[in-house]
Amino acid sequence: MTAKKDGESGLDRILTLEIVRVTERAAVAAAHLRGRGDEKEADQVAVDAMRQELNKLPIDGRVVIGEGERDEAPMLYIGEEVGIGKGPEVDIALDPLEGTTICAKNLPNSLAVIAVAEKDSLLYAPDVYMEKIAIGPGFPAGTVSLDATPTDNITAVAKAKGVPVGEVTACILDRPRHARMIEEVRATGAAIRLIGDGDVAGVIHTTDPDETGIDIYMGIGGAPEGVLAAAALRCIGGQMEGRLQLNTEEKIARARTMGIEDPNKVYSMDEMASGDVVFAATGVTDGNMLSGVKFARDAIVTHTIVMRSSSRTVREIKARHQDLGKFD
Ligand code: FBP
Repeated sequence: MTAKKDGESGLDRILTLEIVRVTERAAVAAAHLRGRGDEKEADQVAVDAMRQELNKLPIDGRVVIGEGERDEAPMLYIGEEVGIGKGPEVDIALDPLEGTTICAKNLPNSLAVIAVAEKDSLLYAPDVYMEKIAIGPGFPAGTVSLDATPTDNITAVAKAKGVPVGEVTACILDRPRHARMIEEVRATGAAIRLIGDGDVAGVIHTTDPDETGIDIYMGIGGAPEGVLAAAALRCIGGQMEGRLQLNTEEKIARARTMGIEDPNKVYSMDEMASGDVVFAATGVTDGNMLSGVKFARDAIVTHTIVMRSSSRTVREIKARHQDLGKFD
């Protein structure tokens, strides 16, 4: 799919900067609860803060990837209308605190994340697992595939990068379901960065291997996180595929109500996030690409990456907030 240029897109350019406030605010709220061992509370304050800021935006927005179904999530549920109701009609994927456990334990790479896209351009994914594979920019199309074995994918990345397999590092969620994949990847000679949580960051890290040390992300994580990661990669560049894990009749039926007819379909990055999309992530805890929120005596410092698919502009915004009252 060809990205639209400025002027053709339904998204206002100014949104790229406006959404930074949304993730900043959620990140600051969550950061107050770093290392307190309370995932739920950290998530709740991030949700409240994000919703409050989101509802100030000049958009007619609809949450398509959110905190869950309306009956299980009172705020930022799927289908909730957000924004001031005037402005472009947009679809929103969000995770006010991606990596609730890592925030509660004060470990690296928890983020506040949002993607705002033209209406009907984000995959309306049910809250199931998704098998994912992702690499950063600069590789020939089709270098990796969910239909290839882990060995073939690792070998292909090494070849395309022009390095021995032993110099490739894969990022994989540390879960029993990945035991066989981990064994196979290690047998190739490649290294693995095992992460406890946070695969949106895991995917984004593939875009800057020199900085993060990660060349490829692989494995099964949340489908909502998959769509968010695809939105990010569309802006920075890279390749990603996702396959929903619809392994029960109930999940298949639920997916059908969301317009998903083929339960085994492999979604390309462009199918998960198609039209113009803007994406922002603010660090909650320190990470490989983003610093976490810093609480100084007279200011709060946040670090955000914000980008847009149609222009491929990637900005990093380090903000020093001196009006601390606005975070009350
Ligand atoms: P939360 O922020 O909801 O805790 O999700 C963290 C996360 O690690 C995601 O990054 C990942 O996609 C998913 O959980 C994996 O799910 P599970 O913990 O069930 O393996």
